[in-house]
Amino acid sequence: MGYVGLTLAVAAADCGFEVFGIEINPVIKSCLKENRAHFFETGMDELICRYNNKRFNCVDKFPVDTKFDAFIITVGTPLQNGSKNPNFGAISAAIKSISQVYDGSQLVILRSTVSVGTTRNVIIPLLTKMCGKSEVFVSMCPEGTIEGKAIEELKNLPQVISGNNVRALKMAEKIFSQITNQIIKADSLEEAELIKLYCNTYRDMNFSIGNAFCLAAQTFGVDGMNVIKRANKGYKRSAIALPGFVAGPCLEKDAYILTNNMADCISRKFILNARNVNESLEDEVVEWINKNIGGLSTDKFITLSGMAFKGRPETSDLRGSSAVNIACKLNRLGYKLKLHDFVADIDEMTALGFGKAYDDLNNACENSVALLVLNNHKCYSEIEEIDNLSNDSIILDTWNVCDKLYKRYSKIYTLGNIKLGGVAN
Ligand SMILES: NC(=O)c1ccc[n+]([C@@H]2O[C@H](COP(=O)([O-])OP(=O)(O)OC[C@H]3O[C@@H](n4cnc5c(N)ncnc54)[C@H](O)[C@@H]3O)[C@@H](O)[C@H]2O)c1
Repeated sequence: MGYVGLTLAVAAADCGFEVFGIEINPVIKSCLKENRAHFFETGMDELICRYNNKRFNCVDKFPVDTKFDAFIITVGTPLQNGSKNPNFGAISAAIKSISQVYDGSQLVILRSTVSVGTTRNVIIPLLTKMCGKSEVFVSMCPEGTIEGKAIEELKNLPQVISGNNVRALKMAEKIFSQITNQIIKADSLEEAELIKLYCNTYRDMNFSIGNAFCLAAQTFGVDGMNVIKRANKGYKRSAIALPGFVAGPCLEKDAYILTNNMADCISRKFILNARNVNESLEDEVVEWINKNIGGLSTDKFITLSGMAFKGRPETSDLRGSSAVNIACKLNRLGYKLKLHDFVADIDEMTALGFGKAYDDLNNACENSVALLVLNNHKCYSEIEEIDNLSNDSIILDTWNVCDKLYKRYSKIYTLGNIKLGGVAN
């Protein structure tokens, strides 16, 4: 019942399914007892209120007297701590949890993002062993929604489905065609796994072009943000991504999940180089801070605002956030920090251990010499002044979204000119 599982559970309940959810995290379970999700998602809490303990039940064990048609696995597939290798251990644990009610006739759908071949080589052997039958029914149906608009997108986006045999494919079609009216049938489980990985890696690589061009422009003394904006303006053949952090729980890892078992070839290098360009942006920012704000007196702070991994659509999700990575790096360097976000939970931000957290930006800027704006939440464009931030304070507006602050502050920078030391316009 994480981000993917819970959104699908309530969307399926809304389409008439009777859904049982299993979760091991006590915080998530207690939030559900209070009829709310453990994260912000548009429309989510209304659906939980409507269906909780009716068509949607979060249980500790699947009831043995209930007939199940399908099981959907939505556990996380993070990278192993300190490495770039994916950890698919939660999938096996999730499969064990259906052993009491699984007899080999039901469909098992994998929705988590995995390396190519995982459904066939890991899940099918586990299931055949569990039920003692040689033929089981397995489908890989990847999740394609964006956090913040997931409920709406589940019903409107095409759903890629696949099956290890004809019956599995038909069962998957029967289920998902009741949730969305666009079904795309992949030729194989592997094709479905690859479609998911390509969609996210494409985004990662596409954004890396903007980041690479931005840094390259600055080596010529040209503002990297402005040059991309003007290259795109009125010229449809150019849609160069603007520079910015490429982060979050999916994009930070999916290129590694894709290349994890890919033969060493030029494509693999291309994909990993793009990831590297995006990751290097965090170090560029930290280096810029050291150069421009280093040597702080001990009673001064740096305010980091926009801690959630993205601002649009807005989310409270701190996982894989570049802002969190930057806070970690600055904290290690000894800087005193204050954290702010328009949506993320204060307790979750405080628990990071990098500084006091605020939901009010003005309070977060008290005694700060610099403000780093690290995501693109829509509220930034409305801010005209920050009382607690003096005129000579430094602002790094990484997404170039603080439109009205450029009149008031002269030391305001974007990612387009951090290498130039110039003032953005
Ligand atoms: N978040 C997204 O928007 C998104 C989009 C597309 C794909 N995905 C993929 O979907 C998968 C899930 O992502 P997520 O963001 O929902 O992760 P998540 O961490 O929010 O959710 C996974 C949940 O599974 C629970 N869990 C772990 N082991 C369990 C077990 N044995 N039994 C029951 N529950 C267990 C965890 O406690 C957690 O709440 C990942 O592979 C991810 O890459 C996510």
